[in-house]
Amino acid sequence: MKNSRIAIIMSFLFLVDFCAAQSEVLQISNFGGTPNSDITQAFIKAWTLACASPTPTKIVIPAGTYMLTGIDVKGPCKAPIEIQVDGTIQAPSDINLVQKGSDQWVRFQYINSLTLSGQGVFDGQGADVWKQGRAAWKKGSSTSTKISMNLGFNFLNNTIIRDITSKDSKFFHIMVLACNNITFDGVTVTAPAMSPNTDGIHIGKSTDVKILNSNIGTGDDCVSLGDGSRKVTVQNVNCGPGHGISVGSLGKYTTEDHVAGLLVKNCTLKETDNGLRIKTWPSAPGTITITDMNFEDITIIDVLNPIIIDQEYCPYNQCSKENPSKIKISKVSFKNVHGTSKTPEGVIFICSSGVPCDEVELNNIDLTFNGAPTKAKCSNVRPIVIGKAPACQA
Ligand SMILES: *[C@@H]1O[C@H](CO)[C@@H](O)[C@H](O)[C@H]1NC(C)=O
Ligand SMILES: *[C@@H]1O[C@H](CO)[C@@H](O)[C@H](O)[C@H]1NC(C)=O
Ligand SMILES: *[C@@H]1O[C@H](CO)[C@@H](O)[C@H](O)[C@H]1NC(C)=O
Repeated sequence: MKNSRIAIIMSFLFLVDFCAAQSEVLQISNFGGTPNSDITQAFIKAWTLACASPTPTKIVIPAGTYMLTGIDVKGPCKAPIEIQVDGTIQAPSDINLVQKGSDQWVRFQYINSLTLSGQGVFDGQGADVWKQGRAAWKKGSSTSTKISMNLGFNFLNNTIIRDITSKDSKFFHIMVLACNNITFDGVTVTAPAMSPNTDGIHIGKSTDVKILNSNIGTGDDCVSLGDGSRKVTVQNVNCGPGHGISVGSLGKYTTEDHVAGLLVKNCTLKETDNGLRIKTWPSAPGTITITDMNFEDITIIDVLNPIIIDQEYCPYNQCSKENPSKIKISKVSFKNVHGTSKTPEGVIFICSSGVPCDEVELNNIDLTFNGAPTKAKCSNVRPIVIGKAPACQA
């Protein structure tokens, strides 16, 4: 009797202790962060406290509309930190008013165990910049005023981004650079089809990246893999509008790292320019390899180029096609890809004449154009065909 009572008290004490250790909650309002005001300083104060805390801490930004000039916070921190955003956070629409010297409006660096969660919205208010077009870029390159991405995750380990929305970024929405083990789950990325360079999630020099259960619609690539991307999974993702899911463009620089390991599974691409794409520059010095790229269970709805490997990628003729790309592409599979193409060529493989593609597999491809099966155009590759797939033409 007595023993069991002690046991109950002990476990109650343990529970209290456990809960306390679980979540020290910091409300942004306690740091002067109130709706309809700029919460930059309040956020920095809360972050500084959270980062120094030896117990896990959660910073809460509740529903409401807030302004934010920009933040650039760094670890390492003493314990895991969660930032729960349920409000709408707006960037200045004028690039001169976003934090100076940083090309990312909200930037996290050198942190282990960061979670960004909530129903909130990061609104980059990019419309003015999109309208200015190249003029804004010129200004950005000549001064410390940069056109900013909405969210930068740099040099992070063990990161989760859950539920939040990135809206109308001035430039790329989300950058993942030099991260290990980062998962996006249930996120929304949204910008109009006509917004230039508003890539959804760009990955570079990172390992173990997952993008799950998310909706991405932008004016550029929904997801793009830059150099050094390894072990990337994109699953249950809707893409469109936009330029599709892209690997590259690669080969421009000798400093690039290899790209290896991509699984794109159960995704839908709707009204995008490209569907599943790998692109490298011709007449360029890069010699890395791209290998183990797998696309399966994909629905294509009215896409211009549903499946495309382009090793002569040269937009606006800004390069020469005289010499072939030196990037070797191998072990690429397209499995169970079905739907509708907006052009007669459902599959385009323009591989390098210098280093032809190896082990490219077409497995059960069912794409139609105006009701008829699409064709495949292939150069410098002999695809392995399994089940139904269009036959290669030169
Ligand atoms: C992330 O992991 C790498 C490799 O284990 C380590 O070198 C780096 O210090 C870690 N970064 C942080 C911020 O914990
Ligand atoms: C990846 O990070 C998450 C979140 O911190 C963590 O729960 C998980 O154990 C990590 N996985 C690996 C393989 O380290
Ligand atoms: C495929 O993805 C959709 C979301 O786009 C999801 O609703 C569905 O459950 C997924 N199917 C499987 C088998 O995971």
